[in-house]
Amino acid sequence: MNVIFLGPPGAGKGTQAVRVCERLGIPQISTGDILRAAMKAETPVGLEAKSYVEKGLLVPDSVVINIVRDRLQQDDCKNGYILDGFPRTVAQAEALSAFADIQAVVDIEVADDVLVNRLSGRRVCPACGATYHTANLAGREDCEKCGAKLIRRKDDEPETVLSRLTVYHDQTAPLIAYYTEKGILHAIDGTQPMEECTKAVLAVLDADK
Ligand code: AP5
Repeated sequence: MNVIFLGPPGAGKGTQAVRVCERLGIPQISTGDILRAAMKAETPVGLEAKSYVEKGLLVPDSVVINIVRDRLQQDDCKNGYILDGFPRTVAQAEALSAFADIQAVVDIEVADDVLVNRLSGRRVCPACGATYHTANLAGREDCEKCGAKLIRRKDDEPETVLSRLTVYHDQTAPLIAYYTEKGILHAIDGTQPMEECTKAVLAVLDADK
């Protein structure tokens, strides 16, 4: 099954994608993770992306469309995938429709005030990519999976979070109408506890049996 996870920054797309991909045995394709890896490796794409990502702006459509088109050609995508953070503009969605057959779009809904709190408390593992929230860490500063010291993403600084939310409302939220029109959008309440969100996602994908 080929699925898109849509939702504002901090809605829990990455958290749910990891859980649902594990359950379905398909890869998570996160354009944010791919761009951060390219930035760390200082590749030409990474160097171009850096100025956009660090300001909370979208990387140009042509760059991310090429990344996703190449990634979907890899063997592990043959039995399905979850796109986490792509598409983010109507132009990206239209380009995607030319090279992918999407069966479902899961829109994870969370109000802006909750998102600001989630992103300001988010900590990530720079080594294995695991994501945490300070509210659940009880003061611990290292990754429980691999032991590396947790960091705050540069784009989780308060002003950058506000620009990411503005960008989401202006450029990405129109995709809700776009995919509703196509009859494949399923909204879920992203403010439920993580396990309940996972159950809701599996239910709308008809994968909870
Ligand atoms: P990206 O990495 O995709 O960031 P994002 O969409 O802003 O999403 P986040 O990773 O911030 O949030 P999430 O929804 O995955 O939430 P998470 O699960 O971590 O993109 C970063 C940047 O790259 C963009 O700003 C842009 O510059 C560029 N980019 C990427 N894709 C692009 C594209 N297609 N086009 C152009 N540019 C692109 O959860 C957040 C926090 O909440 C965590 O602390 C988590 O523990 C907690 N949490 C999660 N679920 C729950 C819950 N149910 N209850 C309580 N807490 C929860």
